[in-house]
Amino acid sequence: MYENRIRKKELEQLIMTAEEAAMLFKDKMVVASSGFTKAGDSKAVLMALAERAQKVHPDPLKVTLMTGASLGQGTDGALAEAKALSLRLPFQVDPIMRKAINKGEVFFIDQHLGETANLLRANNFPKIDIAILEACLIAEDGSIIPTTSVGNSASFAALAEKVIIELNLSVPLSIKGVHDIFSTGEYPSRRAIPITKANAVIGTDHIAINPDKIAGIVITQKTDSPAEIEAPDAATTAIANHLIRFFNQEVAKGNLTKSLLPLQAGIGKVANAVLTGFTHSDFEDLTMYSEVLQDSTFDLLDSGKLLFASGSSITVSHEYYERIFSDFAKYKNRVILRPQDISNAAEVIRRLGIIAINTALECDIYGNVNSTHVSGTHMMNGIGGSGDFARNSYLSIFVTTSMAKGDKISCIVPMVSHVDHCEHDVDIIVTERGLADLRGLAPRQRAQVIIDKCVHPEYQTAMQSYFDRACAERGGQTPHILEEAFSWHTSLRETGSMKKTVTA
Ligand code: COA
Repeated sequence: MYENRIRKKELEQLIMTAEEAAMLFKDKMVVASSGFTKAGDSKAVLMALAERAQKVHPDPLKVTLMTGASLGQGTDGALAEAKALSLRLPFQVDPIMRKAINKGEVFFIDQHLGETANLLRANNFPKIDIAILEACLIAEDGSIIPTTSVGNSASFAALAEKVIIELNLSVPLSIKGVHDIFSTGEYPSRRAIPITKANAVIGTDHIAINPDKIAGIVITQKTDSPAEIEAPDAATTAIANHLIRFFNQEVAKGNLTKSLLPLQAGIGKVANAVLTGFTHSDFEDLTMYSEVLQDSTFDLLDSGKLLFASGSSITVSHEYYERIFSDFAKYKNRVILRPQDISNAAEVIRRLGIIAINTALECDIYGNVNSTHVSGTHMMNGIGGSGDFARNSYLSIFVTTSMAKGDKISCIVPMVSHVDHCEHDVDIIVTERGLADLRGLAPRQRAQVIIDKCVHPEYQTAMQSYFDRACAERGGQTPHILEEAFSWHTSLRETGSMKKTVTA
C-alpha cells in the first residue's frame, strides 16, 4: 500500500506504529505538529501520545505543543484530558482544551498565526525536539509532499531536532503540485516575498527534510475531521446582504472593480455566509488570498465567480471533501496552499490590497474589536490570522450578530472587555442591523454611526444614553464613563443578561 509513497527505500525500516512513535516523547519536550484548522494534522501519533500520557498519569508526561492552527479528531481534547500539555500555541478550537486553558491547567499563547514561524526562526522560543508532520509522499531525497495544509510545517521541518512523518494513504497523490513552499530566510538579509498576485507560484511543491532527522514513519489512512459549517440563517444572510450592497456601492463609486480585490474570510458561520452571498452576486473574476479555504470557496470556484484561491489549508465538510478529492485535478490549477507565514505575511497582504472579513465576539462604539475573550477573561479560540489581515488589509471588515445568547448579550458594548483589533485597524463593522463604514470618521462620529447602524434596538436607547452622558459629563477625544464602561459585562455576570441593569 505504501510502497509507491516512500521513494527513499531505506526509510522503510523506520516504519513503526503510532504507539511506538509515542514512546519517543519525553516529559518537558517541545513538540510541533502539522495541522491548520483541522486539516493535514497528526491524526495517529498525537492521539497515541494522549493515550500514553493517560496511562502514565500521575507520573508527568507534559509537553509543549505548537501547531499551525487547530487540530481535528478531538486531539486537543484528548491531550487536555490526559493532562499531557503544559503549554499550547498558537490556536485551538476544542471545547475540552478551552476549558483546560480557562481553568489555568494548560497555558496558552494566543498568537498571530503569521508570527509563530518568525518567532521560532529568530530563536525566541525553545528548540523543537520532535515535529510530527503529515505527508502523502516521501521523495527520494527525504523531502515530503504535505497533505491538506501547509501551516508551519516547513519551518517545523527545518528547525526540529527529529521528525516523525505520518504518511497518510487516504490523501490522493494528485494533490502534489498544490503546495508552494517558500522561505524568506533570516534577518538581517531576509528576501522579499515576490507575490504580486494571488496565484503567484514562488517556491517548491515539497518540504525539504534532512533524512537523518527522520525518527519514525507512521502509516495512516484517517481523513481530516470534517468542518462543521452551519448553513446561513436570517441574521448571517442579512450581514452578507449588507456587505454585498456595500461592495456594489464601492464599484459604483469607482473605488473597486467588479473583481473587487483579493478576499480573505475568517472562520465561523458568519464568514461562511458572507462568502456564500457572493455566489448570487454580480461580482466576477474574484480571487482569494486567505488562510482557510472552506466549502464556500469551492462553491465560488464551481460557480465560476472565483478564479483562484490561495490559502494555507483546505478545511471542508465531509461531503465537500469527497467531492473535491475524488476529482482534485479540477481544482489543482486554481488553488495554492502556502506556509502560514506567507499566506498571512503583512508584506503580501498590504501589496495585494486584501479585503479582510473576520468575525468579532464583540465590538465597541469606537470600533475596537474583541475576537477572543468572552467577557474579557475566558478564551474562546484565539486571534488566529484575523490580526495579520486586519492591520494590513485594504479594507478591514468585522462582522457579528448584534446580539448573542438570544437577547442576553449585546455584541456592541460601550467598551470591549479585551482588545484584539484596535480602532485604528477596523474600517467597517457589520451586524444584521446594518453596516457602519468607519473610514474617515473621528471617534465621536464613529460612535454615532455604530449606534445607529449596528446596535440592536433592544440596546440602542441604553447605548445612546451612555454615549451622550460620556460626551456631556466626561468629554475627551474618546468619551467614556470609566466606572460604567464595563457595567454591561458586570450585569451579564451578575444577572445572566446585559439587559437587566443597563442604564437607559
Ligand atoms: N459574548 C459571549 N459569547 C458570545 C458573544 C459575546 N459577545 N458573541 C458570540 N458569543 C458566543 C455565541 O453565542 C456562540 O456560543 P455557542 O458556541 O455556545 O453557541 C459562540 O460565541 C460562537 O459564536 P457564533 O455566533 O456561533 O459565531 P462564529 O461561529 O462565527 O464564531 C468567533 C465567532 C469570533 C468565535 C470566531 O470567528 C473566532 O474564533 N474568531 C477568531 C479567529 C479568527 O477570526 N480567525 C480568522 C482567521 S482564521
